[in-house]
Amino acid sequence: MLYLRNLIYHPTACPTAILKSINLELASQQLGLIIGPSGSGKSTLLEILSGLAEPTSGSLFWREQELNAEEMQQLAGLVFQFPERHFCGGTLLEELRLGHPELGKERVTQALAEVGLEHLSLSTSPHALSGGQQRRLALAVQLIRQPHLLLLDEPTAGLDWSMRRQLVNLLAKLKKNWTLLVVTHDAGDLLPIADRCWTLNHGELKSVDPLALGAQKEPQPAV
Ligand SMILES: Nc1ncnc2c1ncn2[C@@H]1O[C@H](COP(=O)(O)OP(=O)(O)OP(=O)(O)O)[C@@H](O)[C@H]1O
Ligand SMILES: [Mg+2]
Repeated sequence: MLYLRNLIYHPTACPTAILKSINLELASQQLGLIIGPSGSGKSTLLEILSGLAEPTSGSLFWREQELNAEEMQQLAGLVFQFPERHFCGGTLLEELRLGHPELGKERVTQALAEVGLEHLSLSTSPHALSGGQQRRLALAVQLIRQPHLLLLDEPTAGLDWSMRRQLVNLLAKLKKNWTLLVVTHDAGDLLPIADRCWTLNHGELKSVDPLALGAQKEPQPAV
């Protein structure tokens, strides 16, 4: 369970706080969705949750334990917006083992299987993949570290309809094993798989019912 208590981010150079007393609770193996317009503070919040920035005040807890930025770096894996722009490995194997040369082939193959890319050769260049496959690879790059919390910044941005659909299905599958927090300005595709939902406006987070935002209930499997 992730808890944020009265989290404020107010860099001294800013006239007003970017994040204003954020309170949030997200249970394990759930997908939380934060919807907010451009400039509302979505990426800033993910930077704090991934330990890249320190909050001005407030606390972050995982289960019962309060964590500092360094501990959040261990706990969370952040997939940036347009993650494919940051690929720097020459092959899938290199990309997945960047910073973790100790990881064996088995972990690499397992991470690719998690995102449905197990059929690709490890010597393929990341740049030779389709847009949807590149997004999957970016997820695998984080999953290989086995973080407890997966943070995603606009994961469906720039994908066409069928690739968006595939990515949403993949996220629905991943939440069976991981806790996911997704931020987006356009909730459309992701609402049906969200367990919790919030809106973020000018740094103020408010809880909303996904069903009230127009999410259809997930179809129940036929008995
Ligand atoms: N280090 C910083 N110093 C000053 N202002 C900042 C800093 N980082 C972000 N901001 C400001 O904080 C606000 C929130 O930015 P943020 O990037 O988190 O928004 P966002 O919701 O992710 O927007 P988008 O949808 O366009 O990605 C913006 O007004 C931005 O200009
Ligand atoms: Mg952003």
